Amino acid sequence: MSEITSNGEKHLVLATGRAHPKLAEAIAAELDTGLISTTSHTFANGELYVRFNGSVRGSDVFVIQSHSTPINEWLMEQLIMVDALKRASAKRITVVAPFYPYARQDKKHRGREPISARLVADLFKAAGADRIMSVDLHAPQIQGFFDGPVDHLFAMPVLMEHIRKTFDLEQLTVVSPDMGRVRVADVWSDKLGTPLAIIHKRRDPLVPNQVSVHEIVGDVKGRWCLLVDDLIDTGRTIVAASEALKNAGAKGVIVAATHAVFSDPAYDILQSDFIDSVVVTDTLPIPDEKRFPSLTVLPIAPLLARAIHEVFDDGSVTSMFDGDA
Ligand code: R5P
Repeated sequence: MSEITSNGEKHLVLATGRAHPKLAEAIAAELDTGLISTTSHTFANGELYVRFNGSVRGSDVFVIQSHSTPINEWLMEQLIMVDALKRASAKRITVVAPFYPYARQDKKHRGREPISARLVADLFKAAGADRIMSVDLHAPQIQGFFDGPVDHLFAMPVLMEHIRKTFDLEQLTVVSPDMGRVRVADVWSDKLGTPLAIIHKRRDPLVPNQVSVHEIVGDVKGRWCLLVDDLIDTGRTIVAASEALKNAGAKGVIVAATHAVFSDPAYDILQSDFIDSVVVTDTLPIPDEKRFPSLTVLPIAPLLARAIHEVFDDGSVTSMFDGDA
C-alpha cells in the first residue's frame, strides 16, 4: 500500500498498546509507515502508565490494541492511551479493537445482569474516542452501543480465500455451531455454493464454558463439514460440535473462526481426532506454545490497514465488503 501518512491537511499516527505489537507493526508496514514511540509500564500496584514520545497535535490517530489476556489490563491501557491523546490535542481518535472486549455480554439474559459490551463502548466514549474499528463483532448490534461511527470489518473474505484454495468445495457442507451463527453460516454456504447444516447447542447458564449438542439439523453424513464461528475461547463449542458431526458420519471437520482466544483447555482439546483442520486469523496474539500442527493462522493486518487507509482518506469501508456480508 502506498505512503499515506500525510495528505496535506491531515497527519496519520498509528499507536499501539502492549497486547499485540506484532499486529500493529504489520499494519504499519502495510501502510508504509511506523508506530509512534510510546513509553508504557505497569506500576507495582498494577496501575498503568502511558506517554507518547512525540507530538500528536492535530493528528488522525488510530490506537491499536488486541484484547487478549489480561483483557481488563489491555482495555484499561487502551482507555488511558485515548485519554492521553485527547489531552494532547489529537484531532480524531479511532479505537482499533480487532476483538471487541466483552462482546459476548451484549444483552441481559437474566435479571440483574450487566450489558458489559455497552459499558465498554461508554468507556471508550468517555475517554475521548471518536470512532471504533473492530472485526467480526460477536453481535452486530454492538455498533449501536457506541455514540459515533463504528467500522465493522469482516474476516470472511480472508478465511474464505484460504478455504477455497485448500479444500474441495464439492465435498463441503457449511455448519453453524449454534443458532446464533446461522445467518453468517448461511452467507458462507451461499458464497461457497455448498449445503448448510445447523447445530442446536445448549449451555447451562449457571455453569460457564460448558457446552452440549442437542441435535444436528441437515445432512452431514459422508461430508466434509466446515464449522464457522466468530471466536474460539475454551474450544468446547467447536469440539462438542465436531464430535457430534463425526458421530453423525461426517468424513472430516474443518473449523474457520476469526478470533483465536484459546483459553485453557483449547490447545489440548482442539487437537482432538474429531477436528482435522483449524483456520483462524491473528486478531489476537497466538504464542508458539498455543500453536499446533493442524492450525493455520492467517494475517488480518492487510484488512485492518486497508480500512485505516479508507477512514483516513475519507474513502469507503463498506466498499471493501461489497457483496460479502
Ligand atoms: C458463542 O456464541 C460464540 O460464538 C462461540 O461459539 C463461543 O463463545 C466459543 O466459546 P468456547 O470456545 O469457550 O466454547
